[in-house]
Amino acid sequence: MPLEATAPLAKPGRAAAYLDWLQMLTGAFLILFMWGHLLMVSSVLFGRGAMNGIAGFLETTGLAQLGGPVIAVAFLLHFVLAARKIPFTSKEQRTAVGHAKMLHHTDTWLWIVQVVSAMVILVLGSIHMWTVLTDLYVGVPGSELGINAETSAARVQKWPWTLLYIVLLPLAELHVSIGFYRIGVKWGVIKRKGRKKAKLIEYIMAGAFLLIGTATLIRFLLMDVN
Ligand code: HEM
Repeated sequence: MPLEATAPLAKPGRAAAYLDWLQMLTGAFLILFMWGHLLMVSSVLFGRGAMNGIAGFLETTGLAQLGGPVIAVAFLLHFVLAARKIPFTSKEQRTAVGHAKMLHHTDTWLWIVQVVSAMVILVLGSIHMWTVLTDLYVGVPGSELGINAETSAARVQKWPWTLLYIVLLPLAELHVSIGFYRIGVKWGVIKRKGRKKAKLIEYIMAGAFLLIGTATLIRFLLMDVN
């Protein structure tokens, strides 16, 4: 398994098992969130009113104000837990890449993609979340709804935000889809002989989400915000 590719040989204790569980649970929670997030943001494809309706509901009920920080904490916790296995030193990185090359093992390469995408998502995802969550509806008379199609489109159209989304979108979709597959493999849902089929499903899923996400980005880019 790639995790052991760089780790010293030591008997894992009970705490490591609990932390592994927590890593999987925070990962699964974030995967569910990202699927919901993609569907909610892509509602703009059906018109500004569709996205504004969903955003308005989430903000006036306080769900966004409550859920946002929960997602942010899960996002950070998931990173801290996963960091236990990330090869940070160049020696560890050389070993991991060396093993992937030597083994000609797609799953080891997928794990490396997972680690690299995680670093970029940590930075860009944090910037994105901070911007969106610090501009939510606060219920003060006369205050505008924070999230709405026009504000989002104006942001997406503004450089360097455009670049941030062009980079974040494919990496987030890739990370979510590989993560979904890896949870299945690690926790025994995907058996050895079912891996090929599961991987195909994972690629199709990643492609479908990327397609919806790209269509959403294009919709934001082409929206008249004046
Ligand atoms: C509670 C947390 C979050 C909220 C409220 C939120 C909200 C939004 C909103 C309103 C947009 C439209 C563009 C904009 O206004 O800037 C958007 C787009 C986007 N968000 Fe989030 N987001 C959250 C968390 C995340 C996380 C954790 C990620 C990934 C790590 C992410 C990735 C993206 C991407 C890639 C887009 C572009 C979507 C597309 O074109 O399909 N978001 N988000």
